[in-house]
Amino acid sequence: MLVNVKDMLQKARKEGYAVGQFNINNLEWTKAILQTAEELKSPVILGVSEGAGKYMCGFKTVVGMVNGMLEEMKITVPVAIHLDHGTYDGCLKCVEAGFSSIMFDGSHYPIEENIAKTTELVKLCAEKGLSLEAEVGAIGGEEDGVVGMGECADPNECKMIADLGVDILAAGIGNIHGKYPANWPGLRFDVLEAVKEKVGDMPLVLHGGTGIPDDMIKKAISLGVAKINVNTECQLSFAAATRKYIEAGKDLEGKGFDPRKLLLPGFEAIKETVKTKMELFGSVGKA
Ligand code: 13P
Repeated sequence: MLVNVKDMLQKARKEGYAVGQFNINNLEWTKAILQTAEELKSPVILGVSEGAGKYMCGFKTVVGMVNGMLEEMKITVPVAIHLDHGTYDGCLKCVEAGFSSIMFDGSHYPIEENIAKTTELVKLCAEKGLSLEAEVGAIGGEEDGVVGMGECADPNECKMIADLGVDILAAGIGNIHGKYPANWPGLRFDVLEAVKEKVGDMPLVLHGGTGIPDDMIKKAISLGVAKINVNTECQLSFAAATRKYIEAGKDLEGKGFDPRKLLLPGFEAIKETVKTKMELFGSVGKA
């Protein structure tokens, strides 16, 4: 059964680990993540960007696919479907489609508008039983064509948004989506500590989970991060495994043209990436 992320992340906060949000792009991806979570007895969050939702034939299709898998694969660990970096309209559509959690990315609005729209969504999510993630301080890099500047969140603005009644908060601390540049100075733990000081026990989210050194991930978890988003790393491992398979010419031999065989190396590669992350985040055995 789909759950929202409130209990999942409160438990993670208390016990000092983080739950991975792995973004999904197709059936193989989703199955690989769910199978790994079940094998490792780890809670998991399936992230869906608006672009990926469109690609997979709309949010209703995504919810139908995931619910079908939970039943057919006999999944027992807690699973959430979470809209990643949603627009206000995208959030409304996902509530309607049956998502269990949404993120409203109001970070590019002036703080007053971010507050007004977040307030509306807090009310709606409370009525429908969904969890709500808000963002303060745009995360850098590119996400569905939207390029953030990688700013650091203002701790006072974080408190203003947290006090509206959101369940989880993504605060920019120098993290960016995609690959980190060679001269990246690292996460701003001083900002993370200042945010935590203001928002107390609220679970914090670290976006841009690809390429952050392991020791920084562990330190971020010790300072209140309870959800870590990973997308690019699954894309890279899926692409590398698929490319290797095609370059080896197997796609042209025997049954090599069968998509079920063609996509298998990528499927296995995603499983390995998700396993490595769940071990690093400490969520194995926590379901
Ligand atoms: P990466 O693509 O850098 O792993 O970040 C994912 C993310 O933060 C999705 O919101």
